[in-house]
Amino acid sequence: MKTMIINASPRKSWNTAQMLKAARAGAEGAGAEVEYVDLYDLDFVGCHSCLACKRNEAERCKCYWNDDLSPLIDRILKADALIIGSPIYFGEPTSQFRALLERLLFCMLSYNGDGPYFQGKINLGLIFTMNAPQEMFETRMKAMSEGLEKMMGNFLRGETRVVAASSTLQVTDYSKYQMGMFDPEQRKAHHEEQFPKDLAAAEQLGAELSK
Ligand SMILES: Cc1cc2nc3c(=O)[nH]c(=O)nc-3n(C[C@H](O)[C@H](O)[C@H](O)COP(=O)(O)O)c2cc1C
Repeated sequence: MKTMIINASPRKSWNTAQMLKAARAGAEGAGAEVEYVDLYDLDFVGCHSCLACKRNEAERCKCYWNDDLSPLIDRILKADALIIGSPIYFGEPTSQFRALLERLLFCMLSYNGDGPYFQGKINLGLIFTMNAPQEMFETRMKAMSEGLEKMMGNFLRGETRVVAASSTLQVTDYSKYQMGMFDPEQRKAHHEEQFPKDLAAAEQLGAELSK
């Protein structure tokens, strides 16, 4: 069992990374071999629509663009589970998440109208972190999250799970920033009470998808 874990946050040790490291602990606890990747370390772009992956002679489910992402896509497509974590930026996952999505899904897509080329099964975990409170995730971002889960799940054809951590701690010391819309005490209390539960949910996601 191989589980790929991808951090689509530019910050390597903050909320999203911590959630993904909890998922890694869950996956390893379930006996999986895990590869953890910080996406922002890689040099890559979104799909250039070169259509090399659609040429008659092309190997299917292969992105031909020559940058750091194509070898990662090869490894994702050989894995049994894929767990991607992203902060929410303006109501969506990050631009790097989106670039990965374009490249990964487009090379799996058949333009012959007969469903995705990919015939294997990769379990999918999506982990989101955000400033917004849980109610706002439920009311304003759930459709986005469910849409991504459904679209990606249709390509990857495995089990899917989503975990969202809301009202995250964005900085250690709010007094050093112009961030008056956040109540530092409330953030700290939420971080102490709720975030450990979010980490536990991420760990469980990692374990369940890696069985
Ligand atoms: C450019 C940018 C845009 C953001 N947009 C949103 C947003 O639309 N909704 C939200 O709830 N939080 C937003 N946030 C806050 C982050 O989603 C939140 O702090 C997240 O937990 C950060 O993850 P990290 O700690 O892994 O970097 C934004 C942060 C940045 C830097």
